[in-house]
Amino acid sequence: MPPSTITISAAQQKELLDAAAQAAHHAYAPYSGFRVGAALLLEGGAIVTGANVENASYGLTICAERSAVARAIAQYGPKLCIPAVAVTNLNKAPSSPCGACRQVLAEFMPPNGLVLFPFDGSIQTHTLAELFPLGFDLAHAE
Ligand code: THU
Repeated sequence: MPPSTITISAAQQKELLDAAAQAAHHAYAPYSGFRVGAALLLEGGAIVTGANVENASYGLTICAERSAVARAIAQYGPKLCIPAVAVTNLNKAPSSPCGACRQVLAEFMPPNGLVLFPFDGSIQTHTLAELFPLGFDLAHAE
């Protein structure tokens, strides 16, 4: 049986994208100038946002998606289920979540969870499975 489809209304999509854009204004990005915001839709309807937090030691930078996940865990606990996430930036860049964030999102999102991001002037919506097939899963390791 094919995985069921998650749908979110146009109003909910807009709410999620607006929340992500709002969060991007809080980004700490003095090194790249690339301000990113992420908004997670949680099962139950709550929205949790995050922004990227850069560091003088560049590799310590935390992406917006991962800062949102950490915040959601801190607020709601470890039984997190994220049916949808929107990621956007204030730089008008077509930008999908980086590979590290896809792996982190996969920890809490079902494969049919929706990932929204701006691309070429429109909003792209993909399932996590489309963006991140065959991610690492310790449960399948021996
Ligand atoms: N960044 C994110 O916040 N999310 C991503 O998925 C990719 C990149 C941030 C990290 C860094 O602060 C800036 O964008 C430039 O890479």
